[in-house]
Amino acid sequence: MRMVDIIANKRDNKELTKEEIEFFINGYTNGEIPDYQASALLMAIFFNDMTPEESADLTMAMVNSGDQIDLSAIDGIKVDKHSTGGVGDTTTLVLAPLVAALDVPVAKMSGRGLGHTGGTIDKLEALKGFHVELTQDDFVNLVNKDKVAVIGQSGNLTPADKLIYALRDVTGTVNSIPLIASSIMSKKIAAGADAIVLDVKVGDGAFMKTEEDAVALAETMVRIGNNVGRRTMAIISSMEEPLGYAVGNANEVKEAIDTLKGEGPADLTELSLTLAAQMAVVGGKAKDLEEARAMLEAVIKDGSALEKFKVFVNNQGGDGSLVDHPENLPQAEYHYDVISEEEGYVEVIDAENIGVAASILGAGRQTKEDEIDLAVGVVLEKKVGDYVNKGDVLAKIAANTEEVDSVVEKVIASYHLGNEQKQTKLIKRIITA
Ligand code: URA
Ligand code: CA
Repeated sequence: MRMVDIIANKRDNKELTKEEIEFFINGYTNGEIPDYQASALLMAIFFNDMTPEESADLTMAMVNSGDQIDLSAIDGIKVDKHSTGGVGDTTTLVLAPLVAALDVPVAKMSGRGLGHTGGTIDKLEALKGFHVELTQDDFVNLVNKDKVAVIGQSGNLTPADKLIYALRDVTGTVNSIPLIASSIMSKKIAAGADAIVLDVKVGDGAFMKTEEDAVALAETMVRIGNNVGRRTMAIISSMEEPLGYAVGNANEVKEAIDTLKGEGPADLTELSLTLAAQMAVVGGKAKDLEEARAMLEAVIKDGSALEKFKVFVNNQGGDGSLVDHPENLPQAEYHYDVISEEEGYVEVIDAENIGVAASILGAGRQTKEDEIDLAVGVVLEKKVGDYVNKGDVLAKIAANTEEVDSVVEKVIASYHLGNEQKQTKLIKRIITA
């Protein structure tokens, strides 16, 4: 088999065989296939797309390029959740204890944030002492005992994805549905869950800008998961504005705690309950979404979801007392109000731009080596649909510097005011097998 023939086949819009796809993935992972040939194939895939069979074969070849996590020592149906990347998205911190409070095991592998998107591990580290460096045995034992644990990404999981993602980033081939789908699904499958609930974001702040593209991506991923025996479903949710009010780390932990108490922002609460209900159903704890929803609302109301969060934080070395005293979370030195110079209804809040603003303050990192500042961030005071008068506070900034002019400008520029009172439709669609 020759790589040049595989490239030519895809260029001519022919369907690649499983053997051809494996030849490419194995050869590229072990360094035998050079970047220029891999780039040419990725570009041919970008233009000519892939069939469902090709996408599934590509995913499994990537899964098989490295280690797979064995979660069979954990009792019950292990359910994982994955978001395609949002701003201010702290649903994992809400979902993990919420679903675990129903005794559905949550064995979650999470990542750190890069660029304008936040990472679950960074947020959790705002709870002093919290760490994700668990041995495989400790991880399994914690999930069996208390139904929830979060671990960092293991070293040799889907090395093919790491290499291909880096190449896509510099060859204009990131935004391809089969390439995104195989990248995400290979990691989820290798991470060992029995069932996968996907949150596919759509809007200006997301990879997928239109609902049509988001649906196509969701359908591709759902098909791949179900084809390989992992029960998979997807929710299409809006990214027309950041999720909740807080964008940062400590401030998002506080927001997650509020949500677990039943006092969180409406959109974060709704998305968390929708995703958690799906997880409870695929996890076999509820017969349908309605029953799941009632069970979830009950564990919020009686305090057991919040209690579960405390146990989870303590189990992983964190200071659980912060759950009752979020005022002791890291605090920034300076606080600024961002004031509106115009009036009207908030029609859109550019989520990516708000993410960048928080990142400039230090809440995110530009390179993997950057240290982040857990205390800083942006808290929105106005959301889509709210009316703003001249002089009203749009958002509050928490900073550890007095030089915040560029951040203030970014936040102001993110708000698009107009005459129409818009209602964001948060949950756009649900895609099942
Ligand atoms: N997230 C991933 O893990 N991979 C992609 O290709 C896009 C988003
Ligand atoms: Ca938030």
